[in-house]
Amino acid sequence: MASSTRSKLGAIFLATGVFVLLCHLASSQLLNQREIFINRWRWSSDDLDDMFEANQLTININPNNKWANILTHQDFPDYKIKLKEPHMCDETVKQYSGYLDAGTKKHFFFWFFESRSNPTKDPIVLWLNGGPGCSSLTGLYFELGPCAVNEEGTDTIFNDYSWNSNASVIFLDQPINVGYSYGDGVSNSLAAATDVYAFLQIFFKEFPQYANLDFHIAGESYAGHYIPAIAAEINNNNKGTSSWILANQPKDLKHVNLESILIGNGLVDPLVQYKYYADMACNSSYKPVLEESTCDRMRNAYPQCASMIQRCYDSSNSFSCLPASMYCNREMIQPYQQTGKNVYDVRKDCEGGGLCYPILKAIEKFSNLGVVKAELGVDRSVEYKSCNMEINFKFQLAGDWMRPYHLLIPPLLENNIRVLVYAGNEAWVKELQWTGAEGFNNAKVTRWVTSDTGEHAGDVRTYKGFTFLRIFEAGHMVPYDQPRPSLDFFNRWLFGQNL
Ligand SMILES: *[C@@H]1O[C@H](CO)[C@@H](O)[C@H](O)[C@H]1NC(C)=O
Ligand SMILES: *[C@@H]1O[C@H](CO)[C@@H](O)[C@H](O)[C@H]1NC(C)=O
Repeated sequence: MASSTRSKLGAIFLATGVFVLLCHLASSQLLNQREIFINRWRWSSDDLDDMFEANQLTININPNNKWANILTHQDFPDYKIKLKEPHMCDETVKQYSGYLDAGTKKHFFFWFFESRSNPTKDPIVLWLNGGPGCSSLTGLYFELGPCAVNEEGTDTIFNDYSWNSNASVIFLDQPINVGYSYGDGVSNSLAAATDVYAFLQIFFKEFPQYANLDFHIAGESYAGHYIPAIAAEINNNNKGTSSWILANQPKDLKHVNLESILIGNGLVDPLVQYKYYADMACNSSYKPVLEESTCDRMRNAYPQCASMIQRCYDSSNSFSCLPASMYCNREMIQPYQQTGKNVYDVRKDCEGGGLCYPILKAIEKFSNLGVVKAELGVDRSVEYKSCNMEINFKFQLAGDWMRPYHLLIPPLLENNIRVLVYAGNEAWVKELQWTGAEGFNNAKVTRWVTSDTGEHAGDVRTYKGFTFLRIFEAGHMVPYDQPRPSLDFFNRWLFGQNL
């Protein structure tokens, strides 16, 4: 009895893609977008104000912002990595932060934390948030990183359930102009894949001790687009079949041990996923959050929305993809937003602050402190925002939103790269066309019981490297709602144990 009630609660997970709300704000944001000028580092009175303000901050400040190291690679002559070794957030582990410079125009911020357990053996995980346009530091400070930011935005709090408990984790701000990244932007999910591959090659060349470890890519929400794109790039480069390899004949590449990808509430196959938005809001096991008439309007809009998405799938050009995202988001997402509910969690009201969670404002404040930027190697002229609405808008305009990134997943599975999808709704996963589709759909759903507390925390379906996990009582940002169980499934997945 109890377990069937809880299974239904699992379904309250917001269907993926509700972050779409960002695009409705995008056009107005575009108008007051200001250009960012990057100046040479200097101490200013503002830094001193910040230090005063952050007087509780337990950071060792290194006032000359010299890079500890600058890394290059013969096969990537246009790229370099500028490194610092910060001492904040998690004093128990080795860290690197800084930028991947791709040419003179693209500067990607990253922050690497070694595993708290056994960094010479534990896997390496790349974490990406979505948006599009939202910083991966949201994942770090709000969901699964080594520390959280306090309510005042003045200091950090150690996270016992951090995903670097048994893995080294890299947080990367991409695409350009997200979080601390800056430069001339791109507006599709494929573009950054090449840059991420260059980053890994340069990083692994400098730190060969990490290069032989298992490597995984994890992320949520719109990262359901990025992750398959990046994984496909790595897989094709590993196999030597990519156009980049054929054109450039690189000499000194390392095999990237891409072992799996993990997608949390990701937008992967919009054609299937948009079908469930109405059910999510109207048939949830909680009482319906919308008026019946609004539910009907959303349901009635789906056939039109679906045929537009299908046209986008067929052509993959922005001319047919843009109208699909405009129509579907207006008809199927906006009615929910207008209720004032938290768009990431049907159980809650929107409490303001960034993305309905006030703590995201504190994270912005903290991330903009001069001392924090100095420690991480970020110039103080780079303004940190949780989400950049202009990027969001540009991705829509470029037609990226509705593109069929799920088509990149079957080749990964065929190459023994495991895929974990953790989400509220299983529909697209069941409809995915791959050689194990039938076996997957016939596989028995089992109970996921956490190792440490013995709690029945979700349900699992798995077949040949493809796993779907429904986690009970979690909204869109799973590790925020269920930190301890999330670390349990994350570690078991990384170490190849059954869920
Ligand atoms: C994870 O880390 C803890 C603490 O170091 C350790 O006891 C445990 O064995 C590790 N788990 C795995 C699977 O390595
Ligand atoms: C949701 O409710 C509608 C209207 O009552 C019904 O037609 C539909 O089949 C339900 N969907 C699910 C998944 O239960």
